[in-house]
Amino acid sequence: MKIAILPGDGIGPEIVDQAIKVLNALDEKFEMESAPVGGAGYEAHGHPLPEGTLKLAKEADAVLFGAVGDWKYDTLDRPLRPEQAILGLRKNLQLFANLRPAILYPELAGASTLKPEVVSGLDILIIRELTGDIYFGQPRGVRAAPDGPFQGAREGFDTMRYSEPEIRRIAHVAFQTARKRGKRLTSVDKANVLETFQFWKDIVTDVHKEYQDVALEHMYVDNAAMQLVRAPKKFDVIVTGNMFGDILSDAAAMLTGSIGMLPSASLDANNKGLYEPSHGSAPDIAGKGVANPLATILSAAMMLRYSLNRAEQADRIENAVKKVLASGLRTPDIHEEGTQRVGTTEMGDAVVRALAS
Ligand code: IPM
Ligand code: MN
Repeated sequence: MKIAILPGDGIGPEIVDQAIKVLNALDEKFEMESAPVGGAGYEAHGHPLPEGTLKLAKEADAVLFGAVGDWKYDTLDRPLRPEQAILGLRKNLQLFANLRPAILYPELAGASTLKPEVVSGLDILIIRELTGDIYFGQPRGVRAAPDGPFQGAREGFDTMRYSEPEIRRIAHVAFQTARKRGKRLTSVDKANVLETFQFWKDIVTDVHKEYQDVALEHMYVDNAAMQLVRAPKKFDVIVTGNMFGDILSDAAAMLTGSIGMLPSASLDANNKGLYEPSHGSAPDIAGKGVANPLATILSAAMMLRYSLNRAEQADRIENAVKKVLASGLRTPDIHEEGTQRVGTTEMGDAVVRALAS
């Protein structure tokens, strides 16, 4: 089993180091190889997704990814910006199914900005389609407006599109996942306005025929945003397109109090995957040793479960994280009165110790 390690930028390297430490503390040793990605890829090879990095990601059984991006690259041409690395990996590896759990750890109930009774026990899963939609749709660009009241003026444009096979495959993942959980699936769309999402809704409804044991509900994205903050526990699994999923998953993450706690998996049709924390590169705190490594450590656990078929090891890591939280250790992002503030490395060390205990 070979793991490609792509630490990236900002806090990426420090949090990935902690996950590596935890993986190395397991009985079974995995082969790991690192490569630069994002701004680091640009610095090393003039491209955010260097050829060697893509090759490594393709040949590995799984990819552990930190985060990419830094304001200092904002003035580069779009194809050279760090974000293109993650988009390129998703597209090249056909990682179409993005699983973003939002789980509230009981110990962190006070960290949420919502009232404890609204979020306590929260356990929802957002499944975001990751290789289609307006993110990748062609054509796109800036042109002279071909028609309308501003004909001839410059306009920016992108194209939202979803093919039937793309919708079917993500719908199957969603129904199968819901079947293993609370058996409830909410498909989020904007069918009242967008052709693409009327089509989405129709296809999801059709796929549902094969999963009659799962309750399917359709919801408009604006309402879904509202329900997520009003009564988030009503959801079990949510499936939606690339852009709506991007937005809703950030909102869902924050229900739990800290985006620093949430892992994610991006899977292809054969359960090969890329695993990354749901948060970004946080350049403002990079190098200060204060970033929360738990999302990355939990991403490594997801990797063991989904791509490496080591569910027991995944359980061990998740239990170790729970123990550490119960012991009161907190990085600054989740720190409250009465808990003990620790840094990135100390948190990683604590998880390693908890694994052994
Ligand atoms: C995410 C990020 C990315 C996205 C960016 C960095 C391209 O926000 O993984 O959610 O929009 O998908
Ligand atoms: Mn996002």
